[in-house]
Parts: sequence; C-alpha cells; structure tokens
Amino acid sequence: MLFAFLGLVIWVCRLILAVPFPEDFIFGVSTAAYQNEGAWNTSGKGPSIWDTLTHERPELILDRSNGDVADNSYNKWEEDIELLNDLGVQFYRFSIAWTRIFPDGEPINPNQEGINFYNNFLDQLTSNGILPMVTIFHWDIPESLQKMGGFMNPRIIDYYTAYAKVLFDHFGDRVKYWITINEPKQYCQEGHGEASYAPAINISGVADYLCGHNIIRAHAAVYHMYDDYYRSLYDGEVGISLSGHWFEAYTRDDEDAAERMRQFYVGWWANPIFSSEGDYPKVMKEFISKRSSQQGYPWSRLPEFTEDEINYIRGTADFFGFNHYTTFMAQNAESDDLTVSYANDHQVIFASDPTWARGASAWLSVVPWGFRKYLKWIKDTYSSPIIYVTENGFSDHGGLHDPERVQYYKQYMEALLEAIYIDEVEVKGYAPWTLMDNFEWFDGYVNRFGLYGVDFSDPNLPRKPKDSAKYYKEVIKSRRLV
Ligand code: NOJ
Repeated sequence: MLFAFLGLVIWVCRLILAVPFPEDFIFGVSTAAYQNEGAWNTSGKGPSIWDTLTHERPELILDRSNGDVADNSYNKWEEDIELLNDLGVQFYRFSIAWTRIFPDGEPINPNQEGINFYNNFLDQLTSNGILPMVTIFHWDIPESLQKMGGFMNPRIIDYYTAYAKVLFDHFGDRVKYWITINEPKQYCQEGHGEASYAPAINISGVADYLCGHNIIRAHAAVYHMYDDYYRSLYDGEVGISLSGHWFEAYTRDDEDAAERMRQFYVGWWANPIFSSEGDYPKVMKEFISKRSSQQGYPWSRLPEFTEDEINYIRGTADFFGFNHYTTFMAQNAESDDLTVSYANDHQVIFASDPTWARGASAWLSVVPWGFRKYLKWIKDTYSSPIIYVTENGFSDHGGLHDPERVQYYKQYMEALLEAIYIDEVEVKGYAPWTLMDNFEWFDGYVNRFGLYGVDFSDPNLPRKPKDSAKYYKEVIKSRRLV
C-alpha cells in the first residue's frame, strides 16, 4: 500500500516535470536601482537614504561597501539589455531611482537627465520585445524626505504620489506592470524597527507600524490615481510586491503561531489590500491592542484606518507581486516581557530546521514545499488573486559554477508548477532574483544572488553567465523544466 502510494507520488512528480508552463505564463528577471545602477551622484541624481547610510555608517554593511558604483548599470544598460535578450525573458522587473527624478524630493521640475535615462532604457527594452515591470519605490527614498520623517510622516503620501505621477506621465505608454512598493515589511519593519536597513531607525512596535500605515495609504493613492486617469490611456496594471517567508507550525499546538506569523508578515499589507473585508488582520489588531494596553498606552500602537480608508484601500491591486525565498518553523512564545517591540507583539519565535540545505544569506534555507504552500495560502486567503512571483532566488559567495542555485531553481519551479496545475493557483509569471550579482544591502557584495556573475575586481565590471543562467535560459526556451 505504502509503495503504491509512493509510486503515485513519484508519477505525479514526473508528470509535473514534463508539463509545459501555461501558454499565458511569462518569464522574467528582477533587479533594483540602488543595487545595480551605481552613478550615485551623477546626472543630477540626489542622495537617497541608502547613499547616506552606506557613507555615514559603513560598519552596518558586512564588507563596508556601498552602491556608489554597484554594477554600473547606469552606464552599461545596453549591455544589460543584451543579457536579457540572451536569457530570452519576456519581462524585466527593475526599479526607478526616486532621486534621479526628484533629486531633493521636492516634486517640482523633474530632473530631465533622469527622465531621459529611463526613456532610453524603456525604448530599447520594448523594441526588444521585453515587457517592463517597473517598481516605483524599492527602498531608496530621497534623503531630504527622510529628514521630514520619511514614511512615518503622512505628508509623504503627497510627495510619493507626485513622483508616481511623473512616472505615469512620462513612461506610462510603455510600462505594462507597475509595482507601487517593494517589500514594505522589510522597508518598514527592518528599516524602522530593527535598524538593519536604511533609514536605520530602531523604534520597534511604533515607527514600523507608522511607516506601514502611510505606505499602505500611499500605495492606495497611487493605485487610484492610475485607475482614475491613466487606465483609459494605457494598457497597464498596478500591483505591489510583498515578501513572505513560509511559517510552518513546529507542532500541532503551534498552528495558531504559524498563521499569526503569516498574518504579521504578509497579512499586514495583504489584508487591507486583497481581503474582502479590508483593514489590518484581526489577529494583528487584537495582539497589538492587548499588548499596548498592558504597556499602559491609552490606544493601540497599531494605527487605525477609518471606515472610508478601509474602503478606499481595499481592492487596490490588479495583481499580487510575491517575493519568496525561504521557510521557517514557528512556535508560540507567549511572554510577559512588556518591552515594546514587533516581536513581542506577535509572540512567535521561529527558526530554520538544521537539516535543510542553506544559502549564504543567514536567513536562507532551501524549502521548495514552503513556496507551494504559500502560493496555495494566498489563493485561499485572498480569493485567488492573479500572482506574479516578482522575486525568488538563492545566495552563495560567487563563481560561475553554481550547482546549488541550479538545483534551487529547479525545485522551486517544480513547486510552482504543482501550485499551478494541482492547487490551481493563478500564477502568471516568474522573475528570479536577480539578473547579476549586485549590492545585497547589509550583506554588501559578500552574498550573491545573480544569474550572471560580475567581476567586481575589474573596473569594467564584466558580466558572465553562471550555470544557473544557462539553466534558466533552457527553461524559458523549452517552457518546461529541464
Ligand atoms: C528582497 C529585496 O527586494 C531585494 O532587494 C533583495 O536583494 C533580495 N530580497 C535578496 O535579499
């Protein structure tokens, strides 16, 4: 009986390996401005919070490096488009540097050199038949706007909307997919609650929620602006990219902890935007309000949306951009510690299983089944939205022979096919992170995710395909796993 069952499982798996990706499924690849462009202070660009952080506090970066030059994609963009052609991708996800458009954040007189740069880039991309997927904000807010509190100050919504309007006006005719914000969890919680990302503020349990509140409102404002004025002009779609580690219950008694962690991680953003009731997840509201009152606050530290805001925010996405890399085991950790923090609010501890294969990044284990479970969870929790996997990838320390990355992609894409064909999840596209080795935030250039290797010791920064690039190219060409 057991053998028959195992035989059936193997048979289904083989079948998955043989099936092609659906006809309307598109393959892409992802990057971000600060991590790739370099040219940090040329052509009118102003400083962003990442320029400031890496210059003023290099000790926060593993190798004390920065994105001043990075891959120099600002100057080598034509070569980069050649790489995209070589891979054969159908779409390219990249971000626009806010500080190239509004160098000091003031939304008047956009910097023409910045507009020209992205115009040329988009022209070339589309003339090569590659659909642009543009991230409006991938963490590099102008330093001058941070001085007024950045996303902790609700006035940021006007600045961000004015910036997005310039992008829609100038580039809307060519951009098929807009992503308002990349990974608000990392930006708000790790940038304002843990100080591991810029702006390196460390007021966990307060600043992170404030940032999140304004980011969600800003996202909704930009979505509505597109919907009201641009949708009739252009054939574009607007979504948001949310990151999610899968949290698996450690024991049966920890099911609530695993689900609570998913809600604190993904639900924080997805519930207001994608759920039918809108607003923050119930469990977040309950837990934070309970802790706040125990701590003597007269109100919950999680800000509240008004009824009008809930309605305004709900439904503001044409697709769910999903960034996924890894899985953790989660366990209840009910504690009486009254210190104000996000971790004390969710009351969960989580860790990797030591038997899992690991990437170079401290947080990355290889758990393809977590990917499949997550996709199914998104489908079930948010009434089957259209999903684009906007990031997925594996880190090592470099080198063109990267069998572990090849294996990672193979297994994760297999899980993706299972999600599509067996769980009937509406995944329409997939973009590995990332096109080439680049500045990996606080890991500097130590941990690398690229499909193409970059020789950072050579001032020309030559790019060379890794085995994983060759593998991905074959998958795209044959539209099935090889
Ligand atoms: C998520 C971020 O969006 C991206 O910028 C980062 O490099 C990758 N994850 C890998 O950590």
